[in-house]
Amino acid sequence: MKIIITKDYEELSRKAFEVMIDVVRNNPNAVLGLATGSTPIGLYDLMVEDHVKNGTSYAGVRTVNLDEYAGLSPQNDQSYRYFMKKHLLDRIDVLPENTYIENGLAKDEAAECARYNDVLSRLPRDIQLLGIGANGHIAFNEPNTPFETQTHVVALTENTIKMNSRFFKDENEVPRRAFTMGPKNIMDAKKILLLATGANKAEAVRGMVEGDITPALPASILQRHADCILIADAPAASLLKK
Ligand code: PGA
Repeated sequence: MKIIITKDYEELSRKAFEVMIDVVRNNPNAVLGLATGSTPIGLYDLMVEDHVKNGTSYAGVRTVNLDEYAGLSPQNDQSYRYFMKKHLLDRIDVLPENTYIENGLAKDEAAECARYNDVLSRLPRDIQLLGIGANGHIAFNEPNTPFETQTHVVALTENTIKMNSRFFKDENEVPRRAFTMGPKNIMDAKKILLLATGANKAEAVRGMVEGDITPALPASILQRHADCILIADAPAASLLKK
């Protein structure tokens, strides 16, 4: 794993932007695996700024997202489709029909998971962006998800519900279930870019980089990926061996 440690969030976003824009400029038809959460917002702002100022085009780019809450419509302002439109997709020239995310309203969940696996196999990702949870989750793959799992529906842990409640009016509004790519789908991307910021991620980052490879810490599987870049700010990297 290649590790880049930055002094703060701003520098982390800039470094992440350099990696992402390199992929887009090298391949106008790139497939970008994208993520939600607070961490990638700075990166998305830089991509928008570059699109506006330098004209970098996403007209041929396809995007696939990691996960989506079950039960929320794309118009719900807490859905991940809404988040992606607000922070990136509506601000660049990517075509809406080229942006993929699980359908949170799908009634037949097994069919929706199979459909999404099919999308992922038709669109091999040039890069997959990831955050990490304080418990080491990647996307909504909580501890002890078998590594070979593909797109599936998960019951969110109490911890994740609590963490995500900051985006909702109150904790009761947080959906209890979500569709998510599995660890296997994530590992299929050609390149992985994981961003971690803040001291509350330090233990998970240490486990991911230096601990055993175990489903108990889902992000530890990334040690097996041939082209994985971790960009962490100093607090998130603070428990790594120097
Ligand atoms: P965050 O979430 O970017 O909001 O910290 C990351 C995650 O839980 O995967």
